[in-house]
Amino acid sequence: MVEILVFAAIKMTQENHKEQPFPKHIAIIMDGNGRWAKRKGKLRIFGHENGTKAVRSTVETCAKIGVENLTLYAFSTENWKRPKLEVQTLMQLLISSLRKELDTLKKHDIRLNAIGNLESLPVKVFKELTHVIEATSTNSRMTLNLALSYGSRDELTHCMKEIGKKIKKNIISPEKIDESVINQHLYTRNLPDVDLLIRTSGEQRLSNFLLWQIAYAELYFTDVYWPDFRDEHLYEAIANYQKRERRFGKTSEQLN
Ligand code: FPP
Repeated sequence: MVEILVFAAIKMTQENHKEQPFPKHIAIIMDGNGRWAKRKGKLRIFGHENGTKAVRSTVETCAKIGVENLTLYAFSTENWKRPKLEVQTLMQLLISSLRKELDTLKKHDIRLNAIGNLESLPVKVFKELTHVIEATSTNSRMTLNLALSYGSRDELTHCMKEIGKKIKKNIISPEKIDESVINQHLYTRNLPDVDLLIRTSGEQRLSNFLLWQIAYAELYFTDVYWPDFRDEHLYEAIANYQKRERRFGKTSEQLN
């Protein structure tokens, strides 16, 4: 019942954007898989497997309620340092999820995109990813961005190198570099800034995620472990976002 009411509230706000802002871009740090599994006396990978269920429900619901962009932190540049078996199993899980969920993405008109140092992914993952990205490229209801082998510092380093190369070839002059030039050289080019960043599991840090893109995002932390994250938690986060006053450096009076 509560869920239905919150859902109705969200639908209402979609129809009345001026009254209640609705996040166009939600980014999620899906944390707590390992601890969730440990609490149940299971291996960490059991947590990741159950994490895919939360991914599926969150993606479907976001598309249904009108979120235009959803970015999920699925594997960071630092995650390569995890035990080899965990990394391998996570990569397997990605391949099987991509295979399994292609129909779901098509059904909900969701376009898949990936951000990160994709060339560092195992060939099998890269191929499956490219296949699903191509197969969903004309979908337009929502863009699902998977952050894979992603780290903000890596992204910014890559961005600077790309701009540097263009300066060397006289394609860009240093005086012309502005925020939009930088945006166009990030992995997230063509995506809007993040409006709402959610992190699960009670940790309150950013872990090298979208540091440039969250400059004015609203941050929301919940104690729920990622495998337990369901629609009610998403609605709670959005309702909380809707209560915030986003001033972007201005005063309240100026906004009114
Ligand atoms: C963080 O929890 C989670 C990850 C590093 C992996 C996230 C992967 C999934 C949710 C499954 C596959 C994803 C897709 C998109 C199909 P943690 O392992 O750091 O948890 P802990 O902090 O409790 O150890």
